[in-house]
Amino acid sequence: MTDRTDDDVAMITRADAEACDATDPLAHWRDEFVIPDDHLAYLDGNSLGRTPKRAVDALRHVVEQQWAGDLIASWWEHGWLDLPLRAGDTLAPLIGALPGEIAVHDSTTVCLFQLVNVAIDLHRTRDGDVGRPIVVAVEATEFPTDRYVIDGISVLRSPGDVPVVVVRHGLDDLQGVDVVVRSLVDYRTARLAAIVEETRRANDAGAITVWDLSHAAGVVAVDLEGAGVELAAGCTYKFLNGGPGAPAFTYVRRSVQDDVVQPIWGWFAQRDQFAMDRAFDPRDGVGRMLNGTPGILGLTAAVAGISLAADVGIDAIAGKAARLSDFALDVAGELGLTCSTLRTPASSGGHVSIHHDDATELQRRLASERVIVDKRDPDVLRFGLSPLTTRFVDVHRGLTTLADLIA
Ligand SMILES: Cc1ncc(COP(=O)(O)O)c(C=O)c1O
Repeated sequence: MTDRTDDDVAMITRADAEACDATDPLAHWRDEFVIPDDHLAYLDGNSLGRTPKRAVDALRHVVEQQWAGDLIASWWEHGWLDLPLRAGDTLAPLIGALPGEIAVHDSTTVCLFQLVNVAIDLHRTRDGDVGRPIVVAVEATEFPTDRYVIDGISVLRSPGDVPVVVVRHGLDDLQGVDVVVRSLVDYRTARLAAIVEETRRANDAGAITVWDLSHAAGVVAVDLEGAGVELAAGCTYKFLNGGPGAPAFTYVRRSVQDDVVQPIWGWFAQRDQFAMDRAFDPRDGVGRMLNGTPGILGLTAAVAGISLAADVGIDAIAGKAARLSDFALDVAGELGLTCSTLRTPASSGGHVSIHHDDATELQRRLASERVIVDKRDPDVLRFGLSPLTTRFVDVHRGLTTLADLIA
C-alpha cells in the first residue's frame, strides 16, 4: 500500500500534512530521538515514548564511568542517593509543582497505593473519626490499576467483616465521600477533567483528591499549585519518554508534607538513613515517600526524557499536542471514522480514539503497513500523538491507511 496523494478522496491531503510539519516550531526536536526507521508512523507514544539520544548517552556514561568505574562510591560521588528527588525537581515545572514536591520512584501502581493510604489517613487526622467507614470514590471506568489498588486497600484495611474503607463507583454525588481518585486524562477518550473545579468540588465536600497524571504529564500544561492539588502520581514512560518501565512520580504539596505518613516504611524514607539502629522516623519533605534502593539506570533514562521535555517547555508541547489532535480529528472526520475524542481543549491532545468492531485485526494490519497504534478492548484504536516525535504526516498516513483497510 502506498501513501495517499492529492488525488485521493480525503480533502486534507498529505501535502497539507507536510505543510504543517514544515511550519511546526517543534519539528526539530525529533532530531533528539533515536529513530531507526523514518517511514514508521509510530502512533503509540502515549503508551511508550520514543528513545531520547540523551538517554542513550546518559546510560552509557552512568554504566561505563560511574557503575563500572566508581562503583559503590557513586551513591555519594555522583548523587545517586538524591537522584529520585533531583529527578522530581526537573519534572516540577512540567506539572506546575515547586522544587521539593516530587519524588520519582517505583511504579505508578505503588505510588497510588501509597497516596490513597496517605489520603485516608490525612482525612482521619483532619476530620477525626467520621463514625462510619472511609469512602473512596472512583469512576467505574477508571484505569484498571487505580481501581485494583483501591479495592486492595479496602480489603487490606477492612479485616474480617468490619468495613473500614469502602469503595464507591461514580463521582456525581460526593456526599459522604472522603477520598477521590481521578485521572486527569481519560485513557480511553483523552477527555480532560477540569482539575481546578473538580479539586475544589471535592474539597468542598470534605474529600481529598488523588490525581493520576499518567496520561497528562508531558502533554498537558498542568498547574498543580494553581489547582490546589495536594496529592498526585503519574508515569514517565509515556509523553515524558522516560523508557520502558521508567519510574513513576509522587507529588505531595509542600503544605501537607509534614502530615504525610505513608504505608511502606523503607530506609530511603528514613531520616539519617545510615544510622542503622534507629526506629523508623520519616525524613522531612517528599523524600518520605521513598521506599527502598532506587533503580539508578531506570532513573537515569527517566531524567533524560524529563529534561528533554523541560527544555522544550510544557506550553509549547501542549500547543503542538492540540494542533496534532485537531488535525487528526479533521482527517478522521473527513474519512468517516468513528471517533470518541472531543476537540481540544475538552480533550488533552495526547491521543485520539477511533472505534471499530474489528479493532484487533485492524491494529495488526496497520502494523504490517508500518503504522503502530495501540488498542484498548473491546473496540478502541488509540492514535497516540507525542508532540516531540509525532509528525503531521504520520497522523495523516495512519488515519488514511486505516480508512483504506476498513473500506
Ligand atoms: C491512567 C493510568 N494509571 C496507571 C497506569 C499504570 O501504572 P504502572 O506504571 O504502575 O504500570 C497507566 C498505564 O498505562 C495509566 O494509563
